[in-house]
Amino acid sequence: MNMDGLKRQAAARALEHVRDGMRLGLGTGSTAKLFVELLGERVRAGLDIIAVPTSEATRADAARCGIALTTLDDIDRLDLTVDGADEIDPALNLIKGGGGALLREKIVASASDRMIVIADDSKWVDALGRFPLPIEVIPFGLAATRRALEKAFAEGGVSGPMVVRKRKDGHVFVTDGGHCIVDAHLGRIADAPRLAGLLTPIPGVVEHGLFIGLASMAILAGSGGIRVVERPEGRNLGDLE
Ligand code: A5P
Repeated sequence: MNMDGLKRQAAARALEHVRDGMRLGLGTGSTAKLFVELLGERVRAGLDIIAVPTSEATRADAARCGIALTTLDDIDRLDLTVDGADEIDPALNLIKGGGGALLREKIVASASDRMIVIADDSKWVDALGRFPLPIEVIPFGLAATRRALEKAFAEGGVSGPMVVRKRKDGHVFVTDGGHCIVDAHLGRIADAPRLAGLLTPIPGVVEHGLFIGLASMAILAGSGGIRVVERPEGRNLGDLE
């Protein structure tokens, strides 16, 4: 099965956790987009849910699928967020932000009682960091922010080049919030929670792509079937089916 087929399988399994009346967070990226499409089919068949999208792209997709949308200004909590990830470790800590939506994704995930991560199983890693860590920064004082990041990396036991993300046309990538993204090529991050704690307080850092303790379940689709991994304690429910 191709990658899209695997992503769709994971998305379909996550849909089984959606119930009538739920308030949902909708993630961003190619896997989350498939979930939105499948959810849209259920909505058109009568499922009654309301959702908060994590990006303008997802807002447009969800609206096109007929999904009723709201904001976190109008409702206080969400029952469930379903989102993709760039990397998932055995503690269900994540790297997110490959699609540039990490800020809204983290706000929405933090406002949710549960977060299910859906992915093909290539995203499963022993330790985070092979995927460059996206860090959303304010353009003002970028050089100073980068120096502060380097210091935090050294304290956190990691190092590596930082690259300001560009679009395909060569222009600097700008997030939905009007910020830039620095992708930090760190390699293995031995202590992701510690690094997250060092990055958060840096002035100029709006948010970083380490999602620590937010995901409650990962649904991973591979050629051998679907594996479901649950927190806490990384309890593995799943045997290949
Ligand atoms: C968006 O900013 C990201 O956090 C995505 O969730 C992540 O990049 C996964 O995307 P794919 O499902 O396209 O791999």
